[in-house]
Amino acid sequence: MAEERKIIVLLGPPGCGKGTQARLIAKALSIPQISTGDMLRDERSAGTELGRRSSVFMDKGELVPDELILDMVKFRIQKGDCAGGFILDGFPRTLAQATALDETLESLDLRLWRVLYFDVPDAEIIERITGRFSCVLCGKIYHVTFNPPPTKDNCECGGFLLQRPDDSVAVVTERLRVYMESTAPVIGYYEGRGRFTKILGGGKAIEEVNRQVMDVLR
Ligand code: AP5
Repeated sequence: MAEERKIIVLLGPPGCGKGTQARLIAKALSIPQISTGDMLRDERSAGTELGRRSSVFMDKGELVPDELILDMVKFRIQKGDCAGGFILDGFPRTLAQATALDETLESLDLRLWRVLYFDVPDAEIIERITGRFSCVLCGKIYHVTFNPPPTKDNCECGGFLLQRPDDSVAVVTERLRVYMESTAPVIGYYEGRGRFTKILGGGKAIEEVNRQVMDVLR
């Protein structure tokens, strides 16, 4: 029988709060957050071939091709810090990625523990993303109104705060279109298979959403 680790998938549109909640879950359950978006941005900062190739897609709001993503995730989830489980934030994002994840977990004698889908209306998404700032040092995510930083330019750790280049209204609109076309079908893939929970995130504060999340994970 497959081993029961705390393997959690966070699904939902851009800006729905996956990264914010992943960081809170990681702290509460002492398991790592695996954000494919953060991994790709790290590759870009490091100037790798993968970073260079994926930037072309990310800057336009398109998905990075599955073949560039799958090996990266497969390698990451086999690292030692994933022994107690892990949180997949932003993966899977296509039906092909979802089936590839199933195959990978099966080959490692593992299975998914929980799938959480964050339902947030489009109008709120745009407001959340265009007001987002992240710390270049620790990755902490802020929002100018909903989760303001201690000072305009700096994180609590002292690192500089930056806006992501793909957080402009034009690119977010394209990311939402791509989400509806390629990622929304993944919801149906998991919905029919149990262990799936829809979290109502619209109009709710970060702490309130986190209470719903932790109720499911405890
Ligand atoms: P990625 O980095 O994964 O971006 P995303 O999925 O579009 O999600 P975001 O990071 O924008 O939002 P989030 O849901 O984490 O929200 P957050 O917590 O920050 O991907 C970027 C790109 O990489 C993709 O477009 C694609 O090109 C590529 N990529 C990545 N993974 C891929 C894959 N698997 N396959 C192919 N390509 C891939 O919150 C947003 C803001 O809202 C913050 O300011 C936050 O403070 C605020 N906020 C959070 N919760 C609340 C709340 N409850 N109320 C009010 N404000 C809130």
